Amino acid sequence: GQPDTVTPTGVPTGAAPEAFAQQGAYLTTAQGTRLRDTDHSLKAGPRGPILLQDHHFREKITHFDHERIPERVVHARGAGAHGVFTSYGTAAGLTRAGFLAAKGKETDVFVRFSTVLGSRGSADTVRDTRGFATKFYTDEGTFDLVGNNMPVFFIQDAIKFPDIIHAGKWHPDREIPQAQSAHDTFWDFVSLHTEAQHHTMWNMSDRGIPRSYRTMEGFGVHTFRLVNDSDETVLVKFHWKPKLGVHSLVWEEAQLASGVDPDFHRRDLYDAIEAGAYPEWELGLQVFPDTPEETFAGIDLLDPTKIVPEELAPVQPVGKLVLNRTPTNFHAEVEQVAFHLGHLPPGIDVTNDPLLQGRLFSYLDTQLTRLAGPNFHQIPINRPHAPVNDMLRDGFHQHAVHGGVAPYRPNSLDGGNPFPAEDGFVDVPVTVTEAPKVRDLPVSFKDHYTQVRLFWKSMSAVEQEHIIRAYTFELGKCYEQAIKERQLQCLANIDPVLCASVALGLGLPAPKPTIELPEVTPSPVLSQVGRQWPAD
Ligand code: HEM
Repeated sequence: GQPDTVTPTGVPTGAAPEAFAQQGAYLTTAQGTRLRDTDHSLKAGPRGPILLQDHHFREKITHFDHERIPERVVHARGAGAHGVFTSYGTAAGLTRAGFLAAKGKETDVFVRFSTVLGSRGSADTVRDTRGFATKFYTDEGTFDLVGNNMPVFFIQDAIKFPDIIHAGKWHPDREIPQAQSAHDTFWDFVSLHTEAQHHTMWNMSDRGIPRSYRTMEGFGVHTFRLVNDSDETVLVKFHWKPKLGVHSLVWEEAQLASGVDPDFHRRDLYDAIEAGAYPEWELGLQVFPDTPEETFAGIDLLDPTKIVPEELAPVQPVGKLVLNRTPTNFHAEVEQVAFHLGHLPPGIDVTNDPLLQGRLFSYLDTQLTRLAGPNFHQIPINRPHAPVNDMLRDGFHQHAVHGGVAPYRPNSLDGGNPFPAEDGFVDVPVTVTEAPKVRDLPVSFKDHYTQVRLFWKSMSAVEQEHIIRAYTFELGKCYEQAIKERQLQCLANIDPVLCASVALGLGLPAPKPTIELPEVTPSPVLSQVGRQWPAD
């Protein structure tokens, strides 16, 4: 028969996490001994020193001394909520993943929204990218969609992640600024590493200061591969569309909110759910043929600094997300949740996007430190809602009491640990070329400006005005004139009007472009003004 394996099971649907260590009416020690007094330590007389034998004192203080865990190396500041994802069944022909394929199928989810650069205690309304990470507790294993509120990223190769984050976080000498990109190191990097210019303009646009988490779009950014029951594949990009539409703060509002209520977004999410105004998003897919070139309309689908404009590939709705329950305990849920791009159910697979590939390594690696050891998948918020029968054993913070004697395969003692191959995850057998090993990127990745110009040209006049003011303010905080001048050169390669306007604000001359500016057709869906959003 099956091995006698005992592992923690998932939190039941709709239930709050277990209230471990808060049972019974009376205060106890961690060992369950009832307390008479937790207000006074045990002393050698009322005026004497505290006695070493006071176990309750030592237990209470020692535990307190170790209450903090490291904040995330990025996305430290966040808020989260539970909810339900309901599939429309419209993706049935594309993927064998049941939570997407079966019409009406409901799946529990947990979502964590975040800023990227600020520390855990920083303000919510700073100009920054926002994380939008969703854990789907599917019957076939957990699926994590770890996205942002912007569809492009600063870098094309994951090996540059420490560089962009070192440049974007505070100055090493004075640890300022806490949470925004108004400083020399940020502009130094993005003006030298020009593939960052596209994401930077999204940051300088109104998208960088969302009104609320409820009014943000979400993007998986990378291209993923879906596989159906007939082993046919398509390439897709994931999009979240907020039911309330996309709304931003104006800059002055964001500054005021930072001071008056640094928890502005966190409070908004919590208050809305508690009031029954459940935030909703539609999940949609842009779907592309899985061709050997992995391009669509001349756009390289493996380049995470590029979008595919929605008028070229419409976003097709596949399901609905409703957030309907606030966390019971912030630490247990929002802080301890651990997302990973490799958490994929059968029917969804990765591509060779060199940013995605590096992320597959980084998240587990950092969580081994952040959550102290290899067993954080047993923390309630991280437990799959599918049965778990793995051969992972022991280690720090092991809570499972595993039975059986044979956590290895093949074996003849615990039933052999069979796995039915037809239901299991299959890595899509994509051909890996016979090209030599190189430290390089495709030539198609070398165009750093066309889509930034496309974005700029797609903005309404008022959005362009906000972008000009944002560049002017943020660059105005730089100490080094050479950095401002280098960024102005980047702006000249995007658009002369943009460059001249920012240069005027900075009191510097506007440089000429060093490239031929490409013709672009403005994309109506990039502007927030006048967009249609999913109806009921
Ligand atoms: C955390 C998104 C690129 C490393 C996060 C989080 C999000 C996110 C949403 C917060 C997760 C949470 O709420 O717990 C993205 C997106 C990227 C990207 C959309 C690009 C498209 C990268 C890259 C790396 C990386 C290239 C490294 C090579 C990390 C790390 C964390 C993190 C180490 C902290 C995870 C933890 O402590 O649990 N990212 N990220 N990210 N990201 Fe990324």
